Amino acid sequence: MEFDTAASVPALSPSLDTRDARSVPIRELGQSERSLLLAHFVALGVEDRYLRFGSPLSDTAICRYVERIDFATDTVFGIFDEQLELEAAGHFAPIPRAAAESATGGGRSAEFGLSVGGAARGKGLGTAMFLRAAAHARNLGISSLFMHCLSENRAMMRIARKAGMEIRQTHGEADAYLALEPGTVATVLEEGVQRRIALVDFAIKRRLLLAREALKHAA
Ligand SMILES: CC(C)(COP(=O)(O)OP(=O)(O)OC[C@H]1O[C@@H](n2cnc3c(N)ncnc32)[C@H](O)[C@@H]1OP(=O)(O)O)[C@@H](O)C(=O)NCCC(=O)NCCS
Repeated sequence: MEFDTAASVPALSPSLDTRDARSVPIRELGQSERSLLLAHFVALGVEDRYLRFGSPLSDTAICRYVERIDFATDTVFGIFDEQLELEAAGHFAPIPRAAAESATGGGRSAEFGLSVGGAARGKGLGTAMFLRAAAHARNLGISSLFMHCLSENRAMMRIARKAGMEIRQTHGEADAYLALEPGTVATVLEEGVQRRIALVDFAIKRRLLLAREALKHAA
């Protein structure tokens, strides 16, 4: 589906091509879907866990992390493959007001962490997730998106630089900040459309999966 959102694109660097990214179906997960998130994280190798969490978390620690996600305040985004497994996941967490104010000088802030499964990389899913998080933040009245990553994380640094994030590097670690313009009617409508597209995409994949399984049993 094509829709002109030129007015609704976050205030990102012009070098970031947002056209393909907006067509990626990204669904918000509910808290009953923690197990999908857990499976996605546990499938990450040691190095990816290190890049995603800042340390090579054990399965048990990842389990605790997933259990502690507060779905009332945070948003978990997912991109599903044909098997309805998560090929990408993003955790968006608004930073409590007091902490955010001291870090950003007044405005509200949110932290975002993302991961794309090894087989799905290099197709723009990471960029699409990032853009969705930025748009979501704008629509919540959040003025700064923050990501903590390692300086050696070339793919993430590439996304951050292309988005025009301000990057502060110390001792091999990088904090990247993106200042956001307030959301508009257009950004809110766009996110609504993207939510619906993702729900339809998920429903179609689910039906196809069920049909494939039925055929397998019938054969
Ligand atoms: C970082 C990560 C999310 C990127 O996901 P992705 O879906 O492969 O990202 P994209 O396909 O959108 O690619 C982003 C850009 O990085 C570039 N890139 C990818 N791998 C790269 C590498 N090893 N070195 C340099 N650039 C690289 C891509 O070419 C692309 O740039 P382009 O748009 O100019 O072509 C993924 O690699 C990942 O999950 N890593 C482990 C967890 C992690 O690092 N999370 C981020 C910290 S929270």
